[in-house]
Parts: sequence; structure tokens; C-alpha cells
Amino acid sequence: MEQRRSFIKDLLQSTEADRNVNVKGWVRTKRGNKQVVFVALNDGSTINNIQVVIDVVNFEENLIKNITTGASISVNGTLVKSMGKGQNVEIQAKEVELYGTADPESYPLQKKGHTLEFLREIAHLRFRTNTFGAVFRIRHAMAFAIHKYFNDGNFYYLHTPIVTGSDAEGAGEMFRVSTLDFKNLPKTEDGEINYTEDFFGKETNLTVSGQLEAELGATALSNVYTFGPTFRAENSNTPRHLAEFWMIEPEMAFYDIHDNMDLAEDMLKYLIKYALDNCMDDLKFLENRLIQEEKNKPQNEKSEMALIEKLEFILKDDFARISYTEAIDILKNSKPAKKGKFQFPVNWGVDLQSEHERYLVEKHYKKPVMVTDYPKEIKAFYMKQNDDGKTVRALDVLFPGIGEIIGGSQREEVYDKLATRIKEMGIPEKDLWWYLETRKFGTVPHSGFGLGFERLILFVTGMSNIRDVIPFPRTPKNAEF
Ligand code: 4AD
Ligand code: MG
Repeated sequence: MEQRRSFIKDLLQSTEADRNVNVKGWVRTKRGNKQVVFVALNDGSTINNIQVVIDVVNFEENLIKNITTGASISVNGTLVKSMGKGQNVEIQAKEVELYGTADPESYPLQKKGHTLEFLREIAHLRFRTNTFGAVFRIRHAMAFAIHKYFNDGNFYYLHTPIVTGSDAEGAGEMFRVSTLDFKNLPKTEDGEINYTEDFFGKETNLTVSGQLEAELGATALSNVYTFGPTFRAENSNTPRHLAEFWMIEPEMAFYDIHDNMDLAEDMLKYLIKYALDNCMDDLKFLENRLIQEEKNKPQNEKSEMALIEKLEFILKDDFARISYTEAIDILKNSKPAKKGKFQFPVNWGVDLQSEHERYLVEKHYKKPVMVTDYPKEIKAFYMKQNDDGKTVRALDVLFPGIGEIIGGSQREEVYDKLATRIKEMGIPEKDLWWYLETRKFGTVPHSGFGLGFERLILFVTGMSNIRDVIPFPRTPKNAEF
């Protein structure tokens, strides 16, 4: 078997037939008769399978028997124009090598469709389905496009730490990092746990955001971004929350809130366009999948647009830009508010719930909405304070079907204001002295935001549960695989 391996994606696009090729992959289906067997082979390079034609007489009976759904094989053969329907080219097999069998009695992925819930339980094998192949190829494409977008825009990729001593969002939803012996904790004289004996000599946790460190980078490199895992111990068992998720956090010196909004809108449009330009086979598959899934739904739950149309729609129009105060007015005067249909009340001062965000986006504006200037009480300590004394220069970007996809702000760059807010909120200054110092030495107006990577992937793939767009989801009571 000396022929160099080709990827199925390249062969299917090939116009140059009648040549020797080698492919390796996993059998999706096998059909045929006593003379000839047709194998649909997939190697993950594309959603499409290549057809391998095996003349039974030329091969051992046992080999043919073992080529079942899920088995892994290598095929040497001739790439020829296909006579059959459904494909342009196929491979006429000359040699077949079997790497691994997959006993049909126990291999869980048989031909029939499986529910996403079932596939979550076999997340180690779900990559081998069309749906998850498509999702994870798109996830890769989006990660690549993010780096390309920022690289082309003079941003530097900054690796911020995963273990930190501070709580960037101040929400107290952190996973502790410690090497102390839980059964025998060292105590101080006051009976508290003595963290000076811990690995880092202080209390540490997994980061909830790389923002604070990204800000340090931005005050020298101008434009930076982080793209890494973040961890939140919030007990939210929703289709949009993970305990471990990936976040993209650009941070830009000399940007005000308007520049921040321009960047957020431009980036999201770039990423969606990238998916449309580069992932069409997978998007078409996922679009069809959704259409099938929605056949069983009642009329009022069916989406108005198919997946690809929905993505194209985002590119067409400017995002709406409103203040939190305007958003509250719209919500108060809305039909669901008047009919008492919202589960959570709407008053100036409350945080917007997902039902409110989706009303603004899906019913009122019918396009993405950027909301700014939230009450300071419901936002983090670092946001720039407005002159009204009540609001801060926060920015949330709301998307159809998702709700909040981006959270960010202009940052408070005035030392005294920031120090006062940190005190007011009861955050120990010893945890943040280094952050405050950037406001002491050459401070500049600056802004940034965080894009939830999985929420972006949810939107682009049309999947409805965040557990289905990350390879191995971590959620409350679940860290299998
Ligand atoms: O709004 P958040 O909490 O903002 C920050 O962490 C800022 N430090 C970002 C910044 O300004 N640099 O989170 C940002 C985004 C949210 O809009 C959401 O898309 C996503 O991260 N996100 C989650 N995604 C999945 N699971 C969770 N538990 C998430 N929490 C936030
Ligand atoms: Mg937020």
C-alpha cells in the first residue's frame, strides 16, 4: 500500500479520473449483492462520502463480511467517473486493508437517526455522525476565521492565565484551584483555612475571563485579544450555559464605546460571512436537518427562516443600537408585558432576561440589537461610569434565538473613579493593585468585549443546545469523557 493517502474532500472535487488513489476512513454504510459491494466511506474531511466499489470475487469472504458500519479501512484503487446517481466519481477497489472491525451487535451508531440526547451520552463516538462532523468542522472554521480577522486587523493574540487570584466579573462563580489536603486543611490562628500553605501561597481559581490581563496588554500593544477557555461555577442548567466555555476577548486602547460597537458588529458579520463562504456543504446539511426536525413542531414554534437565509440576513442590515433605558421603555410598552406574558418583571434597574432580549431582537427590531448604558448596579466594577451617576458604558450584543452573544464595555480609565468603585463593591484592593496601576501610568480610554464562542457556534450551526457545539461539555453534575 504505497500510494499516498488522499482526502475524500479533494477526490470528490477532482476532475482528473482514471488514476490510482488511496483513501482511509470509516465505513458509513455497505450495500450490494453477491457480486459487488458498495461502501460509503467517510474520513471527516467533508460531510460527503466517497463510494468504494468492491468486486466480491477479488477479495476474501471474511474481509468483505467485516466491512460493516463503523469499521475502519484503507483502500487502494482507481478513481473513476461514476455510472451511478448521486456522485461524480467513485473508487474501484484493488486492495482493501481492514484496520478495525465494529461489531454490528454492539456498535451504537447504526443507520437510523439517533436523538441528540442519546448522542451526548456517547460523545466519544458522536463525531462520526453527519451532524457532529458538520458542527465541529464549522467550529474549527470559526476559530480559524477569528484568528485571521484579528491578525489582519493588527491585533496580537495574548495568552492570558488560566489560574488567577482575582474574580474579573465579581460574580463569585469560581472553581477553586488548590493542592491542599481536603481531609486535613491547614488552619490559621483564627481557625480560617491557611492558604499561605497552598501551592501558590494564596487563594487561586480558574479564570472567568481573560479581560483584566488583556487590558494590561492593550496599554502597550494597543490591540490585543485572548481566545481561551473560561470557567464559571454558575448552577445554570440551560441550553445556553456551560461551566467551561471558550471566549474571545479583544481589548483596544483608544477605543470608546462606539468604536467598540463598530468592531463587534464588523467581527460578527465577518465570521458569519466566512462560514457562508467556506462551510456551505455543512451548512446545507444542517439546514436540512433543521427542516426535518421542525416538521414535527407546532406551527408557532417553526422558524421563519431557514438556516442559510438567517445567516445571510444578518449581513444585510445594520444592527440596532439602543440604550438600556430605551430597551426598558420598549419592553414596558410591549404586548407580552401588557398581557403579563413575561415571566420576569420589567422595570428600570432589573437585568434583562433572555425572554426580554429575544423579544427585542426577534419581535421588535427583527435583527441583532446592541444595548448600551446599563445601570451600574447590575454590571461589573471595571465599566466606565457615565456622568449621570447611574449608568455605565456597558455593551451587550443580542442575537436572534440566542439572546446575549457578546458582553463588553468601555473601561473606567480614571484612577480615582475606578478605585472608589472597587471599594464600594467590597473587592479587596490587594487582589487588583496591578490592574489599578495601569490607570496610574499612562492611562488611556479603552474598550473591549467578550464573544461567547459556543454561542456563536450555536447561531451559525442552528443547533439548539450548547452541549452539542463543544466536543465534551462540562455542565453541573457532568464531566464525563
Ligand atoms: O458578559 P460576560 O460575562 O463578559 C465578560 O466576561 C467580560 N469580561 C468580557 C469582556 O468585556 N472582555 O461574558 C461574555 C460572553 C457572553 O456574552 C456569552 O456569550 C458568553 O460570554 N458566556 C457564556 N457562554 C457559555 N456559558 C456560559 N456560562 C457563559 N457565560 C458567558
Ligand atoms: Mg454578560
